[in-house]
Amino acid sequence: MNTLQSINYPIHFNNIAAALNQFIKQGNYSRFFILTDEHTVKHCLPIIRDGLDQTDNFDIIEINAGEESKSIDFCVGIWKMLIDFGADRNSLLINLGGGVITDLGGFAASTYKRGIDFVHIPTTLLSQVDASVGGKTGIDIDNLKNIIGTFTQPKAVFIEHRFLQTLPARQVRSGLAEMLKHGLITDAAYWEKLKNSDLENLSAELIYDSIAIKNKVVIADPTERGLRKILNFGHTIGHAIESYSLEHDENPLTHGEAVVAGMICEAYLSHQKSGLSLTAMEEIINTLLGLYGKYELDEATFPMLNDIMRKDKKNQGGNINCSLLSNIGESKIDNICTDEELVESLKFYASLEYAKA
Ligand SMILES: NC(=O)c1ccc[n+]([C@@H]2O[C@H](COP(=O)([O-])OP(=O)(O)OC[C@H]3O[C@@H](n4cnc5c(N)ncnc54)[C@H](O)[C@@H]3O)[C@@H](O)[C@H]2O)c1
Ligand SMILES: [Zn+2]
Repeated sequence: MNTLQSINYPIHFNNIAAALNQFIKQGNYSRFFILTDEHTVKHCLPIIRDGLDQTDNFDIIEINAGEESKSIDFCVGIWKMLIDFGADRNSLLINLGGGVITDLGGFAASTYKRGIDFVHIPTTLLSQVDASVGGKTGIDIDNLKNIIGTFTQPKAVFIEHRFLQTLPARQVRSGLAEMLKHGLITDAAYWEKLKNSDLENLSAELIYDSIAIKNKVVIADPTERGLRKILNFGHTIGHAIESYSLEHDENPLTHGEAVVAGMICEAYLSHQKSGLSLTAMEEIINTLLGLYGKYELDEATFPMLNDIMRKDKKNQGGNINCSLLSNIGESKIDNICTDEELVESLKFYASLEYAKA
């Protein structure tokens, strides 16, 4: 479990200091910059800095933590810092953080001086199993998630299990949602193994397996022309719920929590439209509700959620496109869903009985 090969870059596991040092040395970079947020600068930077051979030719760029930073204003802030620090085209940006840092840092680097090299050191479970692999970079505009971005592959990714020790439990569960999704869309055995594991102490092996699933999909379809769309299971409705929650809730849902609500709605749609059996649908819903509970959705919000789905960048020709399941471990892309069907799935979700333990 040392290295996985992705599209055109390696994903290194554990003992990442040695791999990072070697990477920096081989790249012959003039300077390097480490993008952090207020949490990763405290919890993760020391681990990286202690292992670095070169200690004099880098600068730290620190931004606020949270999705609000994934904006054009923060991107401009990073570009200006790079200019102020004299970053030339032979500079390297090291993105040390969760998905916000890897998406934003990847976008800033892929556009600065028409593109400088960047690597990801994902420090949340979600960014390890999902955001750091596959080359999607991006920022949000208002409540439209990832509406601006590029497909640009990092030069390398470094995965370190140790970072998860300081990650709040709620953030671990956010990443777990994507791992469960990986099982649901491609690998019934993995879903079974994962849901029966000690979810409070996720093993490095389970994380590796999840990354390997995502990696296999993005290698087969780097720019999401077909197969890669299966990764969107739960995300058409999940993104709408996430955007809504970010704007309206005092304590908004994490990405994973919103995707779980989306996966429940889309499991219902899968049963209606793409052949998922009732038993499988119930197994998925019971497992997810048992792990995550239920987000209270008021019927009055459905038109607004539907409106957000209409603006989803995955839509084509005015149709809302969902990736659905045909079985546990099997999925089907390009299922056109009508507004009525989507609203019906929200209604179904809202009607689910869930007794808090
Ligand atoms: N590019 C992709 O393919 C892709 C895929 C999935 C998600 N995403 C994006 O990822 C973002 C969500 O990522 P996220 O869930 O990692 O959120 P995040 O980056 O906001 O991190 C969550 C929180 O954890 C903190 N944190 C990070 N590492 C820590 C550590 N080791 N110890 C303690 N605290 C730590 C962060 O400071 C932040 O407060 C969303 O914007 C989503 O759109 C992108
Ligand atoms: Zn996701």
